[in-house]
Amino acid sequence: MSNMNGHEHNGNGNGEMTLFLKIWRQKCCSEKGKMCEYTVKGISPDISFLEMLDILNQDLIKRGEEPVVFDHDCREGICGACSLVINGIPHGPEVLTTTCQLHMRKFKDGDTIVIEPFRAKAFPVIRDLMVDRVALDEIITSGGYISANTGAAPEANSIPVRQENAELSMDAAACVGCGACVAACNNASAMLFVGAKVSHLGLLPQGEIEGRERVYNMVKKMDELGFGNCTNEAECEAVCPKGIKLSNIARLNRQFALSSFLKKDDGGLKQEWN
Ligand code: SF4
Ligand code: FES
Repeated sequence: MSNMNGHEHNGNGNGEMTLFLKIWRQKCCSEKGKMCEYTVKGISPDISFLEMLDILNQDLIKRGEEPVVFDHDCREGICGACSLVINGIPHGPEVLTTTCQLHMRKFKDGDTIVIEPFRAKAFPVIRDLMVDRVALDEIITSGGYISANTGAAPEANSIPVRQENAELSMDAAACVGCGACVAACNNASAMLFVGAKVSHLGLLPQGEIEGRERVYNMVKKMDELGFGNCTNEAECEAVCPKGIKLSNIARLNRQFALSSFLKKDDGGLKQEWN
């Protein structure tokens, strides 16, 4: 049996699939990359996308070829390490799903699947499908923290938190820092990521203290590292595996405008956050 591309495929009736992969191969960021074609056979619809790539890599190793390099860690949708663009969509066709949680049942026997790395100026390719996302860590270092004494946990009711703020903060805290929002954006903007961090920390009393500096410093760092600006395309929200909302970008813009207004030439603030 052959598909529309003329490829022979399995169709063996036991649910196992033959898939035709077009994968971006690149030795390092200073060398040119190219798409390479591979065929994987006997793929169960119940395995994950990364397990399918593991099978491909086993085949490549057996044949004495270089395995495909890709990023992954938890494989449970919580660390944000996996980072593939699958058929043009960061994290692939399943909404609210990281690449590691995408299963092969989303594809059909005989499908051709195009797999590329996240593409953005701030994310140079390390090798093949793995990109360097240290720029997101640098944004976090510039303000994505609170200063608090560690030690025994304080009594839970000693700091009252408005219910609405607690909910919005927790929703924003779901961001796993994967960078899919950057990869999906025409401008390679990291505004959804930064907006999530600013909401997560700034909406709680513990994070309010450094709120103004946080917003200002994180946005400045984002610009410095080569991320673009937001032009309200909303591609970021569409691909975010954690459902981070655009309203976080609106909050970021409002708070950045106020922080910029309050900023003094010596780097201090004209008045406190209120
Ligand atoms: S906002 Fe969403 S897409 Fe962007 S880094 Fe966070 S989890 Fe990933
Ligand atoms: S490998 Fe951790 S979220 Fe995918």
